[in-house]
Amino acid sequence: MKTLDFIQLDESGAKQVVNELQFLLADLQIYYTNLRSFHWNIKGKGFFELHNKFEDMYSDVADKIDEIAERILMLGGTPENKFSEYLKKSRISEIGAVTNTEDALHNILETLSHLIAVERKIIELASNYNDEVTNSQLSDYLVEQEKEVWMILAYLS
Ligand SMILES: [Fe+2]
Repeated sequence: MKTLDFIQLDESGAKQVVNELQFLLADLQIYYTNLRSFHWNIKGKGFFELHNKFEDMYSDVADKIDEIAERILMLGGTPENKFSEYLKKSRISEIGAVTNTEDALHNILETLSHLIAVERKIIELASNYNDEVTNSQLSDYLVEQEKEVWMILAYLS
């Protein structure tokens, strides 16, 4: 017995959504490690504030990673867990030790912009298969991420 037999979703649609969620999972894993690097390595004015902010952000991304992996399982897939595979799949690049706070925030803005675009595409795909749960999960992410973009831009201006 499998979850898909009970949750009334089209199997081929679920497969396509899973495929896209695997890419999102890989992106989020790289984003997570980048945020940890910002948390550790930034220096200068704003350190105390941003050191804590980056911790909040990576903790939030860790929750999202878990939620996406569990959604993949519900849709009949197996979430990728190897970092070697994440590196092949992710469209976000790993960063080195960034010490400049503005560079870190610009990198985060670029990543958020990418994630927002990816999530919108998955929402569109999932809508074709009446997968409201994936949609609502990703819509919640958009609510947070769009607000985060606004706040980072306000901070930088
Ligand atoms: Fe820490």
